[in-house]
Amino acid sequence: MKKVLIINGPNLNMLGKRPKEHYGSLTLEEINQMLEKENQGCFELEFFQSNSEGALISKLQECISYAGILINPAAYTHTSVGIRDALEMCSGIKLEIHLSKVDEREGFRRINLVRDVCHKCFQGLHENSYIEALKYLKEIIG
Ligand code: DQA
Repeated sequence: MKKVLIINGPNLNMLGKRPKEHYGSLTLEEINQMLEKENQGCFELEFFQSNSEGALISKLQECISYAGILINPAAYTHTSVGIRDALEMCSGIKLEIHLSKVDEREGFRRINLVRDVCHKCFQGLHENSYIEALKYLKEIIG
């Protein structure tokens, strides 16, 4: 079965407590459960969250040959050359995810270091950004 990594960056373990107008009201655990349901056994899903840049990079290196990666790098979207370079090495389909409409927020969030190494971006749909990304992955490689 094809493997897919769902990887989330800093502060996403605090979903449910973050501003709801940007991030919705679900916890990360609830979003992951929705993804399992949407997946319907199509892929082998692996979930990972960390607040630390090095841990995220090491996980991407471990999963370098996975068929797909759904990544919300959170604040590291805007700062991390290391995560960008790790993603660039990953051979599968890479989908960038944001709960909020990150391209329409503060200027510093419009700096995006991962966009050019991802195949597509899903943003602004709260938890449905993840669901739409998984549906897309199922369409193209499921
Ligand atoms: C985010 C947007 C980032 O700018 C922010 O730092 C996050 C979450 C999103 O999902 O909308 O933590 O990636």
